[in-house]
Amino acid sequence: MNRVVVANWKMNPPSQKEAEVLFKASHSLIKNIKNTKIIICPPFPFLFIAKKFKNKNVFLGSQNVSSEAEGSYTGEVSPKMLKNMGVSYVIVGHGERRLLGDTNEIVNKKILNLLKFKLFPILCVGENKRESDGRYLSFVEEQIKNSLFGIPGTQLKNIIIAYEPIWAIGKNATREATKDEFMEMKIFIKKIIADIYSPKIAHSIIILYGGSVNPQNTKSFIEDGGAEGLLVGRDSINPKKFGAILSALN
Ligand code: 13P
Repeated sequence: MNRVVVANWKMNPPSQKEAEVLFKASHSLIKNIKNTKIIICPPFPFLFIAKKFKNKNVFLGSQNVSSEAEGSYTGEVSPKMLKNMGVSYVIVGHGERRLLGDTNEIVNKKILNLLKFKLFPILCVGENKRESDGRYLSFVEEQIKNSLFGIPGTQLKNIIIAYEPIWAIGKNATREATKDEFMEMKIFIKKIIADIYSPKIAHSIIILYGGSVNPQNTKSFIEDGGAEGLLVGRDSINPKKFGAILSALN
C-alpha cells in the first residue's frame, strides 16, 4: 500500500545553508524507503533548493498559496509561481494559518485555484477543542463542506485531507490524538464525503493524521488508526526522528 508522509518544516530553518543540509539529510533517509510518497514542504524561500535533489518518491510541497490567481497582491505567492518552481502539493487551511485569518471561504478559493493550475491541495481540518457533547464534529463538518464547496467529484482524487486537531499541533500541544480519536474522525470525514459526493469517492480519498507525530506513535496511527499517512511538523526537521518515522512505516 502506498502511504503519504508530508514534512511541514513550518518557518524553519533560518538560513539557506541549513535548508540545504536538511534537504540533503532528508533525501539520504528517503533513499531506502519504499511504498511511501514523501512530500517535503519547506518555506517559500527554500523551494528552489529542491531542484538539486531528485528522487521519484519525493515531491515538493508548499505551505501556503495566495487565494488570488494573479495580480497586484503585495506579499502573495501565486499558484502559477509554485507550479513553475516544481511544486506539486500545497498545504491549505493549516490550523496555524487559520489562526492568522484563513477562513473556510478563503481555503475554498485557494483549493479552486490550485486545481485550476493542476496542483494538489492538502486540505487541513481540525477542531481547537474536543467538547464532550461532540460539537467538534459539526465544526469539522463545516470546515469540509465549506472548503470543498463547488469542487466537482472528479477532482477529489487530486485532494488529500489531513485531520490535524489544533490542540495536538506544535510545541503547545496538550497531547497527540489517540488512534481511536483519529479513526472516529476518519470515518466521520468519509461519511461527509460520501454524503456530498459518493461512497466510492469517500472510499478512495486519502486521509492523513497530523499533530505531534513522532517515531513512537507513527505505527499506531497507521496500523491501528487506519491513517493513510502522516503530516509531520517538528520531527520532520530533525533528521534522526524523521528517519525513525519513515523506518517505522516500512
Ligand atoms: P507537530 O508535528 O510539530 O505537532 O506539527 C504538526 C503540524 O502542524 C504539521 O502540519
